[in-house]
Amino acid sequence: MCGIVGYVGEKRATNFLVEGLSKLEYRGYDSAGVAVQEGESLSVRKHKGRLTNLEKELEKNSLEGYVGIGHTRWATHGAPSDTNSHPHLSNNGKIAVVHNGIIENYIELRKFLGEKGYKFLSETDTEVIPNLVDYYYDGNLFDAVVKATERLEGSFAIGVISEEDKDTLIGVRKDSPLIVGLGENENFIASDIPAVLSYTRKVYLLEDEEFVLMNKEGVTLLDKKGNKIDKEIFNVTWDEKAAEKGGFDSFMLKEIHEQPKAIRDTMTSRISMEHGVFFDDFKISKEELESIDRIYIVACGTAYHAGLMGKASIERLAKIPVEVDIASEFRYRNPLVTEKSLVIILSQSGETADTLAALRDCKNVGARVLVVTNVVGSTMSREADHVIYTMAGPEISVASTKAYTTQVLVMHMIAIYFSELRELNSKEELDNIKKEMLMLPEVIEEVLNIKEDVKAIAEEIKDEKDLYFLGRGMDFFLALEGSLKLKEISYIHSEAYAGGELKHGPIALIEEGTKVVSILTQKNLIDKMISNVVEIKSRGAKVFGVTFKDMAKACQVLDKVLFIPETHEILAPIVAAVTMQLLAYYVASLKGFDIDKPRNLAKSVTVE
Ligand code: G6P
Repeated sequence: MCGIVGYVGEKRATNFLVEGLSKLEYRGYDSAGVAVQEGESLSVRKHKGRLTNLEKELEKNSLEGYVGIGHTRWATHGAPSDTNSHPHLSNNGKIAVVHNGIIENYIELRKFLGEKGYKFLSETDTEVIPNLVDYYYDGNLFDAVVKATERLEGSFAIGVISEEDKDTLIGVRKDSPLIVGLGENENFIASDIPAVLSYTRKVYLLEDEEFVLMNKEGVTLLDKKGNKIDKEIFNVTWDEKAAEKGGFDSFMLKEIHEQPKAIRDTMTSRISMEHGVFFDDFKISKEELESIDRIYIVACGTAYHAGLMGKASIERLAKIPVEVDIASEFRYRNPLVTEKSLVIILSQSGETADTLAALRDCKNVGARVLVVTNVVGSTMSREADHVIYTMAGPEISVASTKAYTTQVLVMHMIAIYFSELRELNSKEELDNIKKEMLMLPEVIEEVLNIKEDVKAIAEEIKDEKDLYFLGRGMDFFLALEGSLKLKEISYIHSEAYAGGELKHGPIALIEEGTKVVSILTQKNLIDKMISNVVEIKSRGAKVFGVTFKDMAKACQVLDKVLFIPETHEILAPIVAAVTMQLLAYYVASLKGFDIDKPRNLAKSVTVE
């Protein structure tokens, strides 16, 4: 995780560095720091805690130089402290480095450098980098950075500046994202596009082991042998305003409200009642589809929960066996992926380290890889065989909302696409789902109007220590996501169970006053679910529920009910998801927590 930025130009470097870091705080906010070339030497300001601490320091004690680097940290090696904050300097103070990623062989490198007389002030893995660059420096900074990075194992995106080469900034990446922004008499590096958007829309998306050497006049892309690389400029088309709060008190609340649009945009020009579902960059023939023996869906976190929904709809509508895996487990369980497998990789960011590694493993064995991601130009989108973009727009809040619902939607669209190709279901049934899908934006608008009901339940659970989420079938998969959302931003411990599993252990935890959230949108399972609710109520639980208005029998057993409009049962969990998101939001808001920046978390997890 962590976010890095760099600037070379004619203006005061800290203007961009601080603004750029503010756009990258979603990547980590344990500390922030900058290093700037001032006159003959490098000056550093760094502080633990949020970026505002650094800003205050810079107001008192400004930095005037025109070349600089900056960092916002998600702590891996060493606690959040001023000393462990980046940038890190070489022992002689001549080289400054910011780093996103993990140097896995840092202990060996510390030993190696220690033997050469280098000392380490911090507990970080990063501090080996400026010292290695210094060790290899022989009058040519680029050569020294190449030699240093050749020694590094693990993942890194780094920015380097040096007193020895005052006008130059060098960046390089391996398994962590880095982009280059091209301005007028100024150039930038950053971990992600939003950092540079108010300065330029022209960017280079660096690939692994590509170096950028920049000064205010220009930018050169080089491979490690120093050969020039020609790369197409990527023109960013999305609106900068999309990455601002727009009147909402948090990005999360804004993004919850953006779901009708995100869902509409994700369906636009992909669903037609006449011609079915189709994707621009993912076309497969009936024969190719028939030759696929298994689909693997691989993802982390919320995206994994969307993958579970995909399994349910693909197996139901397209009758192809699907396995869903958490990426960090998938990589090490020797999955039986072959060239006959279709692997669907789900990732909002398109950068998550474990998911990216899983993608690469699957490509190496010759499987066909489809990525469903929200970020155009992300590493995964570039490395996959096919890409389907969720058109959710930038998602800034750490707790994912609109990316999740659009991921689930895309999974269902893929299921329909496959089903249409295989001609397995009646046109009428598929048309019915498509028709209801096209109505989802309006249906979700309605759910956004029941906020007061959600708030009333939030009031009841805000002081709980433990909570349970229950569901069956797709509702169980949503229960997992509802529970995760609540944990992430309200820090209340919760667990999700399949309704039928309760009797196999968890029911022992139910006592007088235990609070439970149950989801009842799967009509064929509703009677079973009602029995489960009755079982826990008779042991003292207070049960809140999400269901349709006409579910009178469910309403009779629930203590408080959130009603969602009627829709197809495959789609109902998407609609019910909005109530789960609002519930987590209101609980966190009532508790006064920082909703967009929950403790210990980061949005983009680029370390394993
Ligand atoms: C982090 C985020 C989650 C996200 C997960 C996977 O944990 O906080 O919201 O679901 O990473 O991220 P991805 O970008 O691959 O979907």
